Amino acid sequence: MFIVPASISAPRLPLLHIEDDCFHSEASTASIASHDEDHSYIRPTFPDDSRAPCPGLNTLANHGYIPRSGRDISFLTLVRAIMEVYNISLPLALMLTVPGFLIYARFQLHWNSSASFSDTESISQSFPSISYSITLSSLASFGPGLKIAHRASLVHPNYPSEKPDTNMLHGFLNYARLSDEQRGCFTIHDLASFRVSRESNLQGPNKLDGIHEQVALGESSLTWLLFAKQISSSTSPEISLSYLEQWFGEERIPDGWTRPTETIGLINARKVAGQVQKEMKIVREAKGK
Ligand code: HEM
Repeated sequence: MFIVPASISAPRLPLLHIEDDCFHSEASTASIASHDEDHSYIRPTFPDDSRAPCPGLNTLANHGYIPRSGRDISFLTLVRAIMEVYNISLPLALMLTVPGFLIYARFQLHWNSSASFSDTESISQSFPSISYSITLSSLASFGPGLKIAHRASLVHPNYPSEKPDTNMLHGFLNYARLSDEQRGCFTIHDLASFRVSRESNLQGPNKLDGIHEQVALGESSLTWLLFAKQISSSTSPEISLSYLEQWFGEERIPDGWTRPTETIGLINARKVAGQVQKEMKIVREAKGK
């Protein structure tokens, strides 16, 4: 049973709102709109912009499918964005989003006022509304308590982080094989090998527990299902390095990538997580670990 934390933010008087809007006009507009019409890639621009240790969500924010500020993201906005951008089924989108909301979402009290009133009137006529939403940076925290973040991330360090670590990103990309044409590509075996190397560095209480092992496998499975392509019938599926570099590193929709033609569902995600786990076992056995 989850306990839903409910913190009520301080009411914002309309006057303060106006000052905020002058200071960070784009950030605050973005947090009100459920999503942008313009889906071009824009890196976080304002000091208040918030990001998670999740390339999936940061990419959605950097393209305006969820508020670009990374703040005050509603449940429906997030579910819709995940389904629309990544072609993920409703049950899988719910499975990703519901636990995230139960753990990290907060109630926020907003004070709105009608623009047609004069300033003095609008203060007295303002009315409250409540949203239940998440802010991306809250996802970076580790336990105590049930938190998603773990210490075997592919490109994030072992402490709360909101952006990828450049050295880790290079280490990850270096696991790619060079194919016959000297073209970098990532196989499921490379993904599993890198996971083993990350997990084998963890000692004592930092070792992944059963739940976080499954979380990490789920992340690898989604990465595989979103980006792996079979170039010809005689080759195995692989991920282009440029996709990994742009999605994990720059947190954007990779050039030339189109969302999977087949909807990614729960059964498929579970199946691929099982394949990664099997490959990890093979790698561990080969290393004698
Ligand atoms: C289709 C949607 C999503 C995709 C493709 C995705 C993918 C990923 C990937 C690949 C990672 C691993 C990053 C790394 O190893 O460096 C990750 C991490 C994470 N994701 Fe997502 N994610 C999605 C949705 C979500 C949702 C809905 C939440 C919660 C609301 C979430 C929360 C997190 C968190 C907290 C981490 C950090 C875990 C860690 O320490 O590695 N993700 N995600």
